[in-house]
Amino acid sequence: MSKQEQPILVLGGTGTVGARVATQLRASGCAVRVATRSTRPCFDWMRPDSWASALTDIQTMYVLLPDGTAMPEGFMEHAHRAGVRRVVLHSDRNVDTMNVTDLQSAERQVRQSSIDWTIIRPDWFNQDFETFFRRPVIEGHLLVPVGSTKQGFVDADDIAAVAVHTLRRADHVGETLPLTGPRSLAFVEALDLITDFTGRSITFDGTVEGYREALRIDGVPGDAIETRIRNLSAAAAKGDTTPSGVVEAVLQRPAKDFSAYVHDAAERGVWR
Ligand SMILES: NC(=O)c1ccc[n+]([C@@H]2O[C@H](COP(=O)([O-])OP(=O)(O)OC[C@H]3O[C@@H](n4cnc5c(N)ncnc54)[C@H](OP(=O)(O)O)[C@@H]3O)[C@@H](O)[C@H]2O)c1
Repeated sequence: MSKQEQPILVLGGTGTVGARVATQLRASGCAVRVATRSTRPCFDWMRPDSWASALTDIQTMYVLLPDGTAMPEGFMEHAHRAGVRRVVLHSDRNVDTMNVTDLQSAERQVRQSSIDWTIIRPDWFNQDFETFFRRPVIEGHLLVPVGSTKQGFVDADDIAAVAVHTLRRADHVGETLPLTGPRSLAFVEALDLITDFTGRSITFDGTVEGYREALRIDGVPGDAIETRIRNLSAAAAKGDTTPSGVVEAVLQRPAKDFSAYVHDAAERGVWR
């Protein structure tokens, strides 16, 4: 199989970011193999016997772990033995601040592997407002205990574009790339933009007390609530995010602004 025909493996390739990585790779002429629990071949992090068929004939892979899933120890060694020589790991800009232990462990395993690696660390996705913040937006009230600190919302299309750039080239090997949008915004400012485009009135509560009470009413166990509060408070304590400029530097074009995202999402009817 020539290098051109050899597929790039996209783990997590049916989700918000991974599907965009796969689409953009195909658009740039690359062969792609998406592997998740719902594809053929199937790939399940929990089933090591499913790894070999996904890794066959793969030299380059994108690794996105779903929320709350750890990379099993031994996976990177397995991938190296199968012939993988290049990996781009999708992590989180707040991996250390928010103590995301699953991603800290994945980063360590990737750095210690014998495979050339790049780690991308995106901030909050713009698309969070159409996934886990969609219902609060539609109901008109969002709670995130980060007060008025400004966040570096970044577009999933841009995250995928940086991933595709690094998967297709030998540059940025051994680098950890923090990805933000072009400006940082407080949640209340982000919601105001959604209001401007949709006419929806949406209130924001950035307090710990409001968040704790809402999760308690939703039946979330007390220790899970306190862990979430601890992690989000640590992110808030860091203060306003300064845009990293990495998307622009890697792609040599502007990053997508949150208002452009809201315009497109409203056109798609995301909050109808
Ligand atoms: N949301 C944010 O603001 C944010 C910011 C920074 C970093 N992150 C990180 O980004 C990642 C989430 O990205 P996303 O929102 O694009 O993910 P997503 O939309 O939730 O997609 C998850 C993907 O993982 C696959 N998957 C789920 N369970 C699996 C399993 N057991 N074995 C193999 N594949 C499995 C899913 O496909 P199947 O269901 O078909 O298996 C799907 O392709 C997380 O690691 C999160 O910590 C998120």
